[in-house]
Amino acid sequence: MDMDNEVLRAIRERRSIRKYRPEQIKDEELQAVLEAGTWAPSGMGYQNSYICAVQDKETCDKIRRLNGEVLGNPEADPYYGAPTIILVFSKSDWHNTVKDGSLVLGTMLLAASTIGLGGCWINRCEEVFASEGGKALLGKLKVPEGYEAVGSMSLGYPASPARAPRPRKEDYFRVIK
Ligand SMILES: Cc1cc2nc3c(=O)[nH]c(=O)nc-3n(C[C@H](O)[C@H](O)[C@H](O)COP(=O)(O)O)c2cc1C
Repeated sequence: MDMDNEVLRAIRERRSIRKYRPEQIKDEELQAVLEAGTWAPSGMGYQNSYICAVQDKETCDKIRRLNGEVLGNPEADPYYGAPTIILVFSKSDWHNTVKDGSLVLGTMLLAASTIGLGGCWINRCEEVFASEGGKALLGKLKVPEGYEAVGSMSLGYPASPARAPRPRKEDYFRVIK
């Protein structure tokens, strides 16, 4: 068995990208990322998440601003100019909300990197969608009733290389036999 196959290499080589080219990604690239997200494991296999990719500039800008407001700087763009923003919501009344949604995001981040796209997890979605401005967007984003925001990611063509990764910490894992 190959213990250094292309999937393992892709996992090691994925990095968070924080600078994007302005042009929009291709539809088939977006589809590949979204489809990958749907294959993430989910508690009981219930698929209790909802993925919403936003490419409409006005809505993206609104999300950037709301996220910046949570940061205390509405003019900052926490999505680093990415032309696509993907939001992940998961069912609230369910003990795996954050776990399910996080795996969907992690899977999409990895998938994006394997096809040459840049992505980065962007935080503060809980606060964004708890705010009045965020709540007002839920209908437009077609978020099902009873779902809450778990996280989001920026997506686009990388405009500059990622920061070098930190070495993995000592004792990150241990095998008990
Ligand atoms: C839960 C979580 C929240 C994060 N929030 C942000 C964020 O708001 N903005 C950002 O630029 N990066 C964010 N990141 C990305 C991390 O900073 C990044 O994954 C980490 O520095 C390791 O770098 P790498 O992804 O290139 O390996 C987040 C990552 C996770 C898992």
